Amino acid sequence: MKTAKIHLILSCLFIFSILSCNQKKEQKIETTSISQPEMVLDLLDLQANNKLGKDTLVTIVNDPVYHKAKKYKAVSASLLVKTEIELNKIDSKNTKIVFECVDGYKPEMPLELFLNANPFLAFEDVDAPKGSKWEPILKEGNEMNAEPFYIVYPSISEKDSRYKWPYNLVKIYLEPLNKSTLELYPLKNKKLETGYTLFKNQCLTCHSINGIGGTMGPELNYPKSVTEYWKENELVNYIVNPASFRNKVKMPTLGITKQQSQEIVDYLKYMSENKKKI
Ligand code: HEC
Repeated sequence: MKTAKIHLILSCLFIFSILSCNQKKEQKIETTSISQPEMVLDLLDLQANNKLGKDTLVTIVNDPVYHKAKKYKAVSASLLVKTEIELNKIDSKNTKIVFECVDGYKPEMPLELFLNANPFLAFEDVDAPKGSKWEPILKEGNEMNAEPFYIVYPSISEKDSRYKWPYNLVKIYLEPLNKSTLELYPLKNKKLETGYTLFKNQCLTCHSINGIGGTMGPELNYPKSVTEYWKENELVNYIVNPASFRNKVKMPTLGITKQQSQEIVDYLKYMSENKKKI
């Protein structure tokens, strides 16, 4: 009788320990789902699995890419993000949304700004010529189109530069708002903050430093910094007006003044002393 009781207690303890182990495991899965890889939305994948959401027709009065009124078949991009990512598990105020495009262009904006702007993910251009999904975009003599996806905002002015309208979009992911700030901030020389801010706002979408940033343009710091193989004054002039150096240049003239360009170059010189293997 006594041993049977002990057995009962022991097996209860055993079962309890299994249960609590399982609980721990579940918790672990939950925390990993908050971490980076789970916060990537592969849009083509979602489309192939019919998970983009309900189609609607949206009209953009003044489309900033096509420079005219446009109509698209689209799904709600905020609903898509909210369906695919459990936003109550992340600190969405301190999160940014990063758009990854086919050519490595990577614009970003604060997540809350995006979610509150009624954004749409366009997947088909209603005005496209027969037989194609998209009307061609003419840019510097090259013909391209917006496929596979293009983010549009029916209720936001195209002039408001806080909102990004990426086309050739393939992936969306969420990252802590200060991720690049922490890695690229000139901690040891705060005087370079102006150059750093200019770089972050104007260059990081296309260029990386120590592997952080867009890949449409070349990495600018590792293994060799541009400040090590360009003459300084030429580099300053290049950043102001790339087309005066290279024919059919892909880097746009951004409206940077010579003084701002010098600030960026000073910051790049500082980063050349802070290289990191990626
Ligand atoms: C829209 C994308 C884009 C933006 C924004 C952009 N660049 Fe570029 N950049 C490029 C591309 C693409 C190249 C490669 C050369 C070319 O233009 O074809 C380039 C080339 C360069 C080069 C020459 C690199 C080398 O090894 O010769 C430097 C330096 C540079 N960019 C600096 C900057 C800085 C600084 C900014 C911000 C003020 C900036 N770029 C913004 C796309 C961009």
